[in-house]
Amino acid sequence: MPPLVSDRGRRMPASPIRKLMPLAEAAKARGVRVYHLNIGQPDLETPEPMRRRLAQAPRIFAYSPSVGTPECLATFVEYYRRLGIPLSADELITTTGGSEAVLFALMACANEGDEVLLVEPFYTNYQAFATMAGLRLRPLTCRGEDGFHLPAREAWEGALTPRTRLVLLCNPNNPTGTVYGPEELQAVAAFCREHGLFLVSDEVYREFVYDGRKLVSALALPGFEENVVVVDSLSKRYSACGIRLGCLATRNRDLYLACLRCRSTTARTSPPGCSRTSASAAPPSWWPPPPVSTRPRASARTRCASPTCSSGKTWRPPWTSWPRASPPTARPADSAPCPSRQPARLAPRPPSR
Ligand SMILES: Cc1ncc(COP(=O)(O)O)c(C=O)c1O
Repeated sequence: MPPLVSDRGRRMPASPIRKLMPLAEAAKARGVRVYHLNIGQPDLETPEPMRRRLAQAPRIFAYSPSVGTPECLATFVEYYRRLGIPLSADELITTTGGSEAVLFALMACANEGDEVLLVEPFYTNYQAFATMAGLRLRPLTCRGEDGFHLPAREAWEGALTPRTRLVLLCNPNNPTGTVYGPEELQAVAAFCREHGLFLVSDEVYREFVYDGRKLVSALALPGFEENVVVVDSLSKRYSACGIRLGCLATRNRDLYLACLRCRSTTARTSPPGCSRTSASAAPPSWWPPPPVSTRPRASARTRCASPTCSSGKTWRPPWTSWPRASPPTARPADSAPCPSRQPARLAPRPPSR
């Protein structure tokens, strides 16, 4: 009898993002122009100093410290410092893209069989990460009419079970493009603190905000240090998806150490060598990089990012109604792109489940 693959292996969902790739390649071969909205890969050049640094290869590609090299960690520390977020090197772990950071966070925050609250539509690979970590996703639906802002507190309370361990938030959100404001973020963090949950904030699209607002990182919320873990990536910020470098940041010491152990238990030993070399050459003038819409090679997606929809009207989502009973009037700063022309629709919607 042939051996059987594991239940986990069977449950692992095939990536709907990757599924589209051969179809796109076949269409291109037929001469069709393809815009890759299925994958979050900017079409800008990776900064030249990062590419140049790769030419200075070390004589030996050795294992690095599990957390990443001091040089690479210093680059991250400086990046967050410029954002006004003081972090020390021992609150950061260099990871293989944001993907590994999400996986480590899930593995360290919850036990097998535990549940993760998140809003849907969500980044489709979250399902695969949760399956790898043995966790169950419990999605709360967000609605276009509300600008895909977070559901009311009652909805979160209603979804809570004894197995809930964390909230996984993607801000700015992929795929909806919604940017959660400080009040909204504060409210979800308070919900987490009150119920002893972790807040895993995926901020890989931090710079992809098109209406002049500045994203408030979950790391910048005072009083939630024990709850918050941020997952981050160089992929989008530097148009460097292929170097596979990201990081995980938390001030919760136990969680930090657990994430670090995940690196050795998953036999990953150290982050990718060439990438961390390249990352440490990331030019300070790109901290943060110029707004995408002002870069010379504006892509189709960038043009779609205009806060004005095709009708010429600016679409303003209502400010979150949570935790208030009734939403206040939308403020100018709350305007966002029309959901039908969202910039961050970089991955397909997850399959309906
Ligand atoms: C929301 C979100 N988080 C994480 C990732 C993973 O990024 P990375 O390429 O750095 O692994 C992606 C990639 O598309 C993403 O869209």
